[in-house]
Amino acid sequence: MSTTTSTTLRAEGVSIRFGGVQALNKVSMDAQPGQITGLIGPNGAGKSTMLGCISGTLDQNEGTIFVGDTSIGKTTPQKRASMGMARTFQGPQLVTELTVREHVVLANRAGKQVRAGRGVAALNFLVALIPFFSRGISKDEIANADALLDELGLGKDKDKGPSDLTLGQRRLLEVAICLATNAKIMLLDEPSAGLDRSETENLGEMIKKLARERNITIVLVEHDLDLVFGICDRVFVLDFGQLIDSGTPAEMRASKAVQAAYLGTVED
Ligand SMILES: Nc1ncnc2c1ncn2[C@@H]1O[C@H](COP(=O)(O)OP(=O)(O)O)[C@@H](O)[C@H]1O
Ligand SMILES: [Mg+2]
Repeated sequence: MSTTTSTTLRAEGVSIRFGGVQALNKVSMDAQPGQITGLIGPNGAGKSTMLGCISGTLDQNEGTIFVGDTSIGKTTPQKRASMGMARTFQGPQLVTELTVREHVVLANRAGKQVRAGRGVAALNFLVALIPFFSRGISKDEIANADALLDELGLGKDKDKGPSDLTLGQRRLLEVAICLATNAKIMLLDEPSAGLDRSETENLGEMIKKLARERNITIVLVEHDLDLVFGICDRVFVLDFGQLIDSGTPAEMRASKAVQAAYLGTVED
């Protein structure tokens, strides 16, 4: 189970405290390439905090993160992005002024900049790149962006702006942006939030296809347990900052500890 390749992600004994709140307490987990690893738990359990520690926007007090055999303990988000890590956030990160295709082209440019060690901020990189946009887009860039958008089912929406997309399409565009940066490790924070059942299933199928076909390491934080149990290979469960259980979806569905953690919480 714990084979290590260059894009295996591993957190070891990660703890972080915000004032009086122990948001994570010695949490260890790992995620393998080609697989979807679920991270679930009731509201406030520490899921987004874990993604922050993995992506480097938060600094854990204890423990470390490994990509392959390399400890990325205290490196910057930019350094982690240059190692192939990309993250979506709860809440949209799209730029009103750009079309769907322009988002993907800029994300691709940003990925190249970051891998070349040039200091494009991993966060808000699209905004940072707008001033460079006047350089124009090459035929190759358009062809690459369009191929990716076709693959994600956004082919007909290339020239639309984010506000002309459905929420489901915006979530797919966020995934497209991660992919365009050439991400090998993708951290998705509640990608199905606000989506209806069929949009959620479509997104889930797409995420699964990407993991399998591109051998991407995917960490999926989700409150939609049907989605998590439907597409994940393994699931880690947090409650009040503690890892309370981990295993296959079937094992987690049957877990007494998981059921107890979710008892009394309202599922929507
Ligand atoms: N920047 C912060 N400052 C203070 N407390 C925080 C901060 N971020 C998260 N927390 C607290 O840490 C706990 C875990 O939060 P979070 O990781 O957002 O939970 P989840 O994503 O599982 O809903 C919560 O109690 C939350 O209030
Ligand atoms: Mg969260």
